Amino acid sequence: MADDRMDKLVSLCKRRGFVFQSSEIYGGVGSVWDYGPLGVELKRNIKDRWWRAMVQSRDDIEGVDAGILMHPRVWEASGHVATFTDPLVDCRTCKGRFRADRLHDAQCPQKPSKHPGEHTTCDLTDARQFNMMFKTFMGPMEDTAAIVYLRPETAQGIYVNYLNVLQGSRQKIPFGIAQIGKAFRNEITPGNFIFRTREFEQMEMQFFVKPGTEDDWFERWRHIRWQWHLDLGLTPSRLRWYQTKPEELAHYAKAAYDIEYEFPFGWNEFEGIHNRTDYDLKRHQEFSGKKLDYFDQEKNERFVPYVVETSVGADRCTLAVLCDAYSEEQVEGETRVVLRFHPAVAPIKAAVLPLVKKDGLPEIAEKIYHDIKTRFAAFYDDGGSVGRRYRRQDEAGTPFCITVDGQTKEDQTVTIRLRDTLEQQRVDAGRIVAWLAEKIAV
Ligand code: GAP
Repeated sequence: MADDRMDKLVSLCKRRGFVFQSSEIYGGVGSVWDYGPLGVELKRNIKDRWWRAMVQSRDDIEGVDAGILMHPRVWEASGHVATFTDPLVDCRTCKGRFRADRLHDAQCPQKPSKHPGEHTTCDLTDARQFNMMFKTFMGPMEDTAAIVYLRPETAQGIYVNYLNVLQGSRQKIPFGIAQIGKAFRNEITPGNFIFRTREFEQMEMQFFVKPGTEDDWFERWRHIRWQWHLDLGLTPSRLRWYQTKPEELAHYAKAAYDIEYEFPFGWNEFEGIHNRTDYDLKRHQEFSGKKLDYFDQEKNERFVPYVVETSVGADRCTLAVLCDAYSEEQVEGETRVVLRFHPAVAPIKAAVLPLVKKDGLPEIAEKIYHDIKTRFAAFYDDGGSVGRRYRRQDEAGTPFCITVDGQTKEDQTVTIRLRDTLEQQRVDAGRIVAWLAEKIAV
């Protein structure tokens, strides 16, 4: 993918209503993005697909939806207050602040364009640790006793509910708890569109296992998560594993693998599979004073479970899906821009297009449109030439365009045009919803 492809994708996302810069009319906030009508459908479909695979289709995983604000001791116990930091340097000349370990990615504001520290006038301080958690105050007093944090990961909302879920469900170890929700990190160098932002969504699952079985479960979950991305339709050659080096491991992990995608700006992580040992539960046990061990009645033994975590960013996954789907091709001397989404995540599943706005075709088309809407997200478009309407749907990633024409009045069939192959099929109007259901439920 050429470099300008990212620029083209960002511009398409804005033009077609996938993603907008937050607070754009005020000049924008670079590190926060808003999802527009098509983007919210795409991301929701990805999240629904994850929830279906990880929670609803399994007997051994329960879902939760915990609060973003948690007791401040949670973040002491989890280690985030002490260690969720980035090393920062300040420049005494330009007053800029940069990540000490990412100077090569940063830009010194002085001209000509160079990295911080490369101009003779640059005067960098020693690195200092900067905590990435956002702080706010709970209640009317803005003092240190009222400080709470916006959660930097959703995982802790699962650990603190581990006992509640265990007691309120019929689960036995091994079992998991899953959650989708917002997380916040005061990233120093956010960037690359929705790849690294300060507000994002995570889809996380913590799988609680008996100590000694964690390595086996770790391998099983690696396999399951890899397959999920393949089933989502991501190009296999653009996916790879990265094994985290011991010195790169998060404070809680004994082993970790990232699933990386080849974004236009290079290979980057979008999911992590972590072997978190019993670190989190033991720390919460210690800090809360509440026993979090598990009693295995059959074996008559007591232990603190180990945890295998799968953690994928909903926004990064959406970006991978967008990048993977984006394609340009020449059709009849014109450039066709098409988003080749897997039909199950496409924001609009079918567009209904009457060939002309007369002869009773709009009435038939509207009826078909309303029938489809009872099951799938659909779009009705009667404006402009049918060729232009097809192009608009290609850019929105709509897999199926249904055209109502003169023949429809004679034999009650429609033309369904397939986005990816441009093949056209004649289908009975009465069978459209069943036809779509078959194609979408892959
Ligand atoms: N609970 C483990 C955890 O949070 P992580 O590797 O820090 O692990 C997991 O984050 C995933 O969350 C990442 O793979 C990425 O997809 C997403 N993520 C993390 N920071 C992000 C950010 N600043 N912007 C967007 N997504 C982010």
